[in-house]
This record gives sequence, C-alpha cells and structure tokens, in this order.
Amino acid sequence: MVSPTLPTHHRALQLQSIGHFQVANLPTPKAGHGSAVVKIEAAGILSYHREIYDGTRNYSFPTPIVGGYSAIGRIANLGPDATLLKIGQLVYVDCVIHARDDSEYIFLSAIHDSAREGSRKLMRDVWRDGTFAEYARMPLENCIPLNEARLCGGLGFSVEDLMYMGYLMVPFGGLRDIRLEPGETIVIGPATGGYGGAAVQVAIAMGARVIAIGRNEEKLAKVREHVLAGSPNASIETAVITGDEAADTATLRAFGTIDAILDLTPPSASKSTHLRSAMGALRRNGRVSMMGFVDNPMVPWEFVARNHSLKGKLMYERDDIVQFVKLLESGLFPKGERFVQTRKFQLEDWTAAFDVAAKHTGIGKHVVFTF
Ligand SMILES: NC(=O)c1ccc[n+]([C@@H]2O[C@H](COP(=O)([O-])OP(=O)(O)OC[C@H]3O[C@@H](n4cnc5c(N)ncnc54)[C@H](OP(=O)(O)O)[C@@H]3O)[C@@H](O)[C@H]2O)c1
Repeated sequence: MVSPTLPTHHRALQLQSIGHFQVANLPTPKAGHGSAVVKIEAAGILSYHREIYDGTRNYSFPTPIVGGYSAIGRIANLGPDATLLKIGQLVYVDCVIHARDDSEYIFLSAIHDSAREGSRKLMRDVWRDGTFAEYARMPLENCIPLNEARLCGGLGFSVEDLMYMGYLMVPFGGLRDIRLEPGETIVIGPATGGYGGAAVQVAIAMGARVIAIGRNEEKLAKVREHVLAGSPNASIETAVITGDEAADTATLRAFGTIDAILDLTPPSASKSTHLRSAMGALRRNGRVSMMGFVDNPMVPWEFVARNHSLKGKLMYERDDIVQFVKLLESGLFPKGERFVQTRKFQLEDWTAAFDVAAKHTGIGKHVVFTF
C-alpha cells in the first residue's frame, strides 16, 4: 500500500504542566530510522491515569507531554529500516520502551521515565509523546502486528475490545515468567482488582485451575460469574481472605496441591497477610510471581524450607506480547461482554474518561479513547 499523506497537524491530549490538559493541534510526527507513525484507533486508559497527571502519584516525566499508554492503530508512516510492518496494517502499540544499547533502561511511554539517567534522556529527547493522539510515533519494535482478518473478522473482536490486551498482557508476563503450565493450580490475589481480574482471565485461557482470593466475597463471586459466563468449563474457585494468616493458609491447603501464585497486591494492602497465607499452602518447589508493589514485602519461612522460587516481574517482554497475540488468535478467550465491557470516549471528553476509568475497573472492564 502507498504511504498515505500525513496531515500537517493532528489532535492530541497534551499535558502542559502537572494538572493542566488541553486538546491541542500539534504537528504530525514523521517516522525516521527505527520508528513508525501509527494512526491510533483505540488508546487504553488506566484506572489511575488522572492520579498520574494531576501529580497525586508523583510519577516522573517531562512536560509538556502527550498523555498515553498502550494503543491499537494502523501503520501510517514507516522508517526505511522496517522489514515486517506494512502501511495500513493493524498493530498493537506497546507502551514499554527499551533503550536499544543498554537493557538496564526501560520506561513506560507517557507514564513514568523510571527516574534513571538513560530512560529519562530517552523519554525527554526521543520518545516523549504518548498515544492519546490521532498519530503517535513509536519504536518499530513496539508495533506488534495483529492478524485483523482472524481477530476482527473470524473471531469478531472489535478494536476497542482488543485493547483490553493492555490489562491482560501484564499478568501474562508474570505467568509466563514462572512458566505456568496447563492443568496446574494457581492462586491469584487479590483477584478483584483490574490486573488481578485480568490475571484470572489469562490463567484460565492458559488452561490452569484458578483459586481467586480476595477480601470481598461478593466481588469474588462476580469474578467467578464473569469467567463461567464466558468459559462454562473453566476451573475456577474462590477463597475469602480473613486476615487470620494461619486460618487462611488452612483454607487454601484444603484446595489440594497448589503449584504457583501470582501476586498483584497494591501498596494500600502492604500489611495484608494473603501472600504469606498462600505461600504457606504452596507445594514444595512451587513458584511465585510478585507483580504488586508493596512496602517491605515479607515471605514466610516455608519459602526456604519448601524450595519456593520467588520472582519479581515488571510488565512483560516483547516475546510475551507476540506469544499473547497468538493466544488471542487461537480463540481461547470469550468474546463480547464475556471478554470485556468497554467504555469509549473522545479526546475532548477526557475529564469524564478519567473519572469513569477510575471506577470501571475489575475483571472484564476497561476504558479507551477512540478516534
Ligand atoms: N509489575 C507490573 O508490571 C505491574 C503492572 C501494573 C500494575 N501492577 C501492580 O498491580 C497491583 C494491582 O493494581 P490494580 O490496578 O489492579 O489495582 P486495583 O484495581 O486498585 O485493585 C486493588 C486490589 O487490591 C485489593 N485490596 C486493596 N486494599 C486491600 C487491603 N487492604 N487488603 C486486601 N486487599 C486489598 C482490592 O480488593 P477490593 O476489591 O476488595 O477493594 C483489589 O483486589 C498494584 O500494586 C500495581 O502497582 C504491577
């Protein structure tokens, strides 16, 4: 396909300074060596996007900046060194940007510069603007081809629903990192949040038996209900965490052999004992992926005595994205509202979009900007 002529200017949601957004008319970026310009069709919004840009979370990034996260769009312009990507092709645009000459430097596009010299430089000088825009320039390797005929044609996913990948990819990175196998039993907790719920969906699609844990019985029942509505034969059970560490361990031991744990504890739950209880019930040589950010994580003595492996994981690797797209294309996820309930907003409605994103969270829920 011939490269379409890019408009001279495009609309973008630009943060002028902390707390001050406006929809601006900015010059449209052009691709150079190592980059692609993507015409964005759906851009994911995080439940805490407002807190990032109003300074509540004190994240480090330069301003002015076009906001964003991961997105899905069509390749509109390509650097001369592109080999696989084609103009017009539907791609997943990943927000995790890696320095090409030093694997130490990683940052999240338009979210956090990782507060290290190399990633700060890359975000400030090279890859500053994010995907809350009609056009975004991204590294070639961050554009992952999607089989549109299969995903949107045969399987019937809408582009907006596919953007739920932004949530699903995160636990997939952790689950793959601890080599979750089909048929294994995994405890996921807390399972009632955005990433926890996504983790349950992914582990089920990977063929695992899931024990979803959390403090709220009603919300856990909804997690189970959502999974069974889309996958009636899924193996999913739930367990309420009471805060009595020994009693919660006994509850989890009653489920039989537990092979692995995926932890997504938020900082606000740093004092919760659910991970300790789960590790108390984990089998010998069991594996744990810690993806939550807690203050002073503590592990129980079983960690040593039962040869547990504990791995931290930030996001996922590029290879995980490629593999996840194959999983989606294989048809193992349900479709429609049984997959995700998507709320859509235009850039101009960013205030409402951030408000709704903060509330419309949990299993099978997400919010996007569409263009
Ligand atoms: N490693 C990575 O790459 C990566 C990427 C993204 C996110 N994360 C991390 O993943 C974690 C979860 O993020 P999220 O956006 O999914 O959070 P979220 O939607 O706010 O969910 C929070 C979860 O924690 C539970 N919770 C809150 N306070 C609790 C307490 N005091 N005791 C027990 N449970 C409590 C909530 O239960 P209720 O439903 O009962 O309130 C809910 O299940 C965060 O630490 C985040 O930083 C890591």
